[in-house]
Parts: sequence; structure tokens; C-alpha cells
Amino acid sequence: MSNPASPPAVGVLDQGPELTFPPGFLWGAATAAYQIEGAASEGGRTPSIWDTFSHTEGRTVAGHTGDVACDHYHRMPDDVRLMADLGLKSYRFSVSWPRVQPGGSGAANQEGLDFYRRLVDELLGHGIEPWLTLYHWDLPQPLEDAGGWPARDTAGRFADYAQLVADALGDRVKYWTTLNEPWCSAFLGYGSGVHAPGRSDGGDAVRAGHHLMLGHGLAVQALRASRPDAQLGITLNLYPVTPASDAVGDVDAARRIDGLANRFFLDPVLRGSYPAELRADLRGVSDFGHVRDGDLKIISSPLDVVGINYYSRHVVAAPIEGAEPEAYWRSPSCWPGSEDVRFVTRGVPVTDMNWEIDAPGLVETLERVHRDYTDLPLYITENGSAFVDAVVDGQVDDVDRLAYFDAHLRAAHAAITAGVPLKGYFAWSLMDNFEWAWGYTKRFGMVHVDYDSQLRIPKSSARWYADVIRRNGLAAQ
Ligand code: FCB
Repeated sequence: MSNPASPPAVGVLDQGPELTFPPGFLWGAATAAYQIEGAASEGGRTPSIWDTFSHTEGRTVAGHTGDVACDHYHRMPDDVRLMADLGLKSYRFSVSWPRVQPGGSGAANQEGLDFYRRLVDELLGHGIEPWLTLYHWDLPQPLEDAGGWPARDTAGRFADYAQLVADALGDRVKYWTTLNEPWCSAFLGYGSGVHAPGRSDGGDAVRAGHHLMLGHGLAVQALRASRPDAQLGITLNLYPVTPASDAVGDVDAARRIDGLANRFFLDPVLRGSYPAELRADLRGVSDFGHVRDGDLKIISSPLDVVGINYYSRHVVAAPIEGAEPEAYWRSPSCWPGSEDVRFVTRGVPVTDMNWEIDAPGLVETLERVHRDYTDLPLYITENGSAFVDAVVDGQVDDVDRLAYFDAHLRAAHAAITAGVPLKGYFAWSLMDNFEWAWGYTKRFGMVHVDYDSQLRIPKSSARWYADVIRRNGLAAQ
């Protein structure tokens, strides 16, 4: 009998068995340098393509920039303390390339490296596993001026930068992600142009995608040689792509979009080849003449883990004459060669990004990668949702975001039960931040940020997540 005078344990009201995750499951949260650091021209940092882009009129909502962002550069120790309070087991952050190697070539900037060394030491001191992403979209501007990712040389520059970071932090960081979401870098950056550097040319997007993967492969080889004990991976943003009906045209539309969104990266990285049908779909856009002998061998260098970012599903249909294209990542120009495919909305609940909420799609995605591509350990390196939040009496009760996390963690658990070797989950995001072209108008954080005072307030979802981590599981429904 429990002592009636003692306070009830958290979760005492949840009857029934828990959904327990495997021992050692890596519970984390993620951020990216340009989205949180600020201090854009301090400590020797020079501009990246996102500085240039966000300072160009009309590129971001209300002209927002990452100049200050969450001021994490100055508040880092407090932010790590916040992570420790939430009980995070791991923190996924990205290194700003122009902070540690201004201009993108040549010697390291010691002051920049020192910031990340302090961050990593702070994390380790709190028992939090650092998970380092080398490239979360902030290409040094001079490399863009020299041609950017469509230019082959950028891949080599990236490998040199990776080596420089490994030399500085390889003794204390175990988990390394080369690229975050190369689809966005290539097809939003050089296809639709809604992301930096804001160029719009299908052929450039295809070349950029290839050279990003080449840079990934070269970086993996460099890191493997200098840190054989490191766990190396890449993070892809994957979507289940579903035809709106079983009509032949809709099924073909889904095949095409799946090729561009998923197989463009999955096949080279994990199988060492581009799908022949993808090359055929891109016939009018690129002759793939930029692919040299030996590239695909480099690109498919063995990995230790695969990171998956999951947000939503694409439902697509065959073209209709005269149909209006939708905006943003559904804009035709980020699907070169398949510009006329229609993206269909099903009327299911959406987030503040207008992305459909589809937790079963996470199970499908994880199962597909495991079944069709690899036995490697998988990690969900991002998953989360934007909703409009209200601060009431100093609290943020973000029930929608909490429900989104809850549904997707149940999906993650279902995938594990079905045999997927899923080893960890990183919520996007630790805190509200600069959401790229949307500026500060979209809030993804578990922690609310007041951008005037920089006050952080853990939302209900953060407190709930802390409890999930503590229990290593969820209450059964
Ligand atoms: C992903 C990005 C991340 C954030 C989320 C909402 O595509 O990796 O930086 O913008 O979407």
C-alpha cells in the first residue's frame, strides 16, 4: 500500500501498460546554427548564403534575418542547462561553416571552433550526448559566388571543412551527420529558389544534389580515416508519396515525385546508383553529364547510421490542363521535369505550415528504408510541428504540438515493434527559432522564445516530453 500522504507519482492516473522504448533509446532535441545562434558578425564569422538571402528584400517574411535569432551564441550555457532540466539524453546541433572556416576555405577560425568546443564540453558535463551536423544549409557566401553546390569544387571544399571540424572536435563527438536534408539545399535552394541562395534552374538543382552527395561521401571518407570510432550518417527528409487515386496517371505522378523527393538521395547513398527511371524523368532537365566515374562509389561510402527527418506526406495526382500550382515546397519549380504534377490536399488536420498531420506516414517511411535500403540503425533526427502559441499567465499550453509529438512517438514505437532498428528520436525543435523563409512567424519549439527579451518558457509539450524521457515511454491509450 502506498502512503496516502505521499504525492502521486507522475503518470499515476495512466492505467494500463506503458509503451516502453528499448533500453538506451536516444531521446533528444534538434536545432540548427543559423536558426538559433545569432552573433552573425561576431567571433570572426563571415556571411553565409542565408545571411545574404535574408538580407535581400522580399526573400523572407517581413525581412526577418538570423542576425540575432535566439542569441544562443551568448546564452549557450543557460540553454544547455535547460536541456538538462528536460532530461535530454542527446542534443543535435549544427556547426556554422562560416563561423569555423570564414569564407569556406583556408585556415580554421579558432574563436569559432572554441564556441563549439565549449558547447560540447557543456553538454558532456551534463551527461548529454552531442550529435553534430556539419551542414545545415549555411554555405559560406564566397563558395556560392564561385558557383555554389552546382559547382563540383564545392564538394571538395566541404570535405576539407569536415576534416577541420573533426580535427577540433573528433575526440569528444561520437555522432556525426554530414548533411541535413540535401533535397532542400538542392531543390529549394537552386530549383524553386525559396531558400538560399534563391536560384531557380532545374539543371542546377540536379547538379547541386549530386555535388552535395559527393561532398557527403568525401566527408565520410575523411572522417572515417581520422576517427574510426565515430558514428557517421546523413539526414534525409523523406516523405511517403501517395497517389490521389489508383488511376494510372496518379500512380505515375506518385512514382515521379517519389523519385525526386526520396530516391534521388536514397539510391545513390545507400545503393550506389541513380534509378534509371529518375534519369528518364529528368531527361529534359539534365543529361547527368556532371556524374563522373567513381562518384557513386564515393557517395555510397559505408555509413553507421541513417537519419530521417519526417514531417508529412505528399499526395499527388496527374496533371490537369490549366490547374493552379500551389506555393512553397509544392511549387512546380522544385520538381524539375515533373512541374505539372498536382499536390492534393485531403482535408485532414494540418499544422501552421499547412502540412498535413500524418503519423502513420512515419511508420511507412521507417519500414520502407529498413525493408528496401538498409539494416543500419535508424534515427529520427527531426520531427515536429508549428502551431500558433499563446502565452497566458507566463505559460504556453501547446496542446496541438503535444498531440503531434504523442502521435508520432506512438508511430515510432509501432515501427520498432514491427522490427525497424530505430535507435533514437530528436524533437524539432528545442526552441522556437528562425524558420528560414518564414522568419520568426512559425513556431516549432518545445520551448517558447520571446524574441524581444529572449526569455525562454518551456511549453506543455516540453514538460510532457521530459516525462516521456524519464519513463522511457508513453502511457498506453
Ligand atoms: C526541416 C529543417 C529544419 C526546420 C524544419 C521545420 O526541413 O531541417 O531546419 O526548418 O524543417
